[in-house]
Amino acid sequence: MNMENKLSSKFIFVGGKGGVGKTVVASALALRLAEKGMKTLLASFNPVHSLSTIFQQDLSGGTIKPIAGIENLYALEVEIDEAVEKYRDQISNLLREFLKWAEIPVDPKPFIDIATTNPAFQEAASFDKMMDIILIEGNQYDKIIFDTAAVANAIRLIGLSKIYGLWLQRVIKSRQETLSLRKQLSWRKDKVEEEIKKDPVLLNLLNIYNKYTNARNIITDPSKTSFIFVTIPTVLSISVVKRFMEMVSAYEIPSSGVIINMLIPEDEAIRDETGFLKSKVNEQNMNLELINKYFGNQIIGKIHLYPNDVIGLEDLRKVINELEKGG
Ligand SMILES: Nc1ncnc2c1ncn2[C@@H]1O[C@H](COP(=O)(O)OP(=O)(O)O)[C@@H](O)[C@H]1O
Ligand SMILES: [Mg+2]
Repeated sequence: MNMENKLSSKFIFVGGKGGVGKTVVASALALRLAEKGMKTLLASFNPVHSLSTIFQQDLSGGTIKPIAGIENLYALEVEIDEAVEKYRDQISNLLREFLKWAEIPVDPKPFIDIATTNPAFQEAASFDKMMDIILIEGNQYDKIIFDTAAVANAIRLIGLSKIYGLWLQRVIKSRQETLSLRKQLSWRKDKVEEEIKKDPVLLNLLNIYNKYTNARNIITDPSKTSFIFVTIPTVLSISVVKRFMEMVSAYEIPSSGVIINMLIPEDEAIRDETGFLKSKVNEQNMNLELINKYFGNQIIGKIHLYPNDVIGLEDLRKVINELEKGG
């Protein structure tokens, strides 16, 4: 497994436990692809964004911005609240239309509140935004890199979208049956036919169904999408990646690559007379055995622990250099 291979797909998801270096890796990969001449979008889905810090310029505001000083590179720090608001409106309209169509004379507000004020709704809204980026921005860019703490949610939602799709298919079918019955029973068939063509509930359902199906087809196609997981040599972050990998394969999503970050250089440990680093390196070696056991042939790159935070282009290029050496 190598890096080149993983970067050949158009959509690249970077996941892992918090603080392991996802944003650093996503930024480095995006920079490398852009410098190779590919029009690249780096999309951050974190509640707290850090692209602005890494690239040392203001990239906030929820819109796509070109990254100054680097040709072909664009950034988007998705405003989750905005995405939730937009998605809430969509779902509200659908519910309102549905209740009206079903001639259920109730106030839709409590239904809308129940549907949209649970924690899973935020995940669903993020996933919806992700689908929009894949299906719309996908036409404008050669590469899109998703920096997302919520990769587990995305994976789960992709899995759920299969079931959701089946359910939508049934709802659409029954809606079509009802409408065709209405047509048969009506005197003015042409008028009913016109109404059916404009039926907002059916159109909405079809749109949602198409969106899920198209996005799912892309995300589960190994020639279009790859998942890269970042781990540091600690038990906790390894087990997070292990769980993600299991989810990925359970949902028939393309196999993934692993990058190991924050490795303490062995020669530093040998020079350290206090023994502190030696002990850290011993622990690291034990965890590396674990990493090899779980992810062996999926390891695509390694990055050392630097004495400082990774900020700015110079640091990112150091990361790229290490990653180019492979796993
Ligand atoms: N190899 C490394 N050496 C030193 N610091 C690193 C390294 N990788 C990441 N960092 C630093 O660790 C912190 C967390 O990295 P970040 O990419 O923001 O993690 P995540 O996106 O997974 O939460 C940042 O301050 C970053 O600069
Ligand atoms: Mg991050």
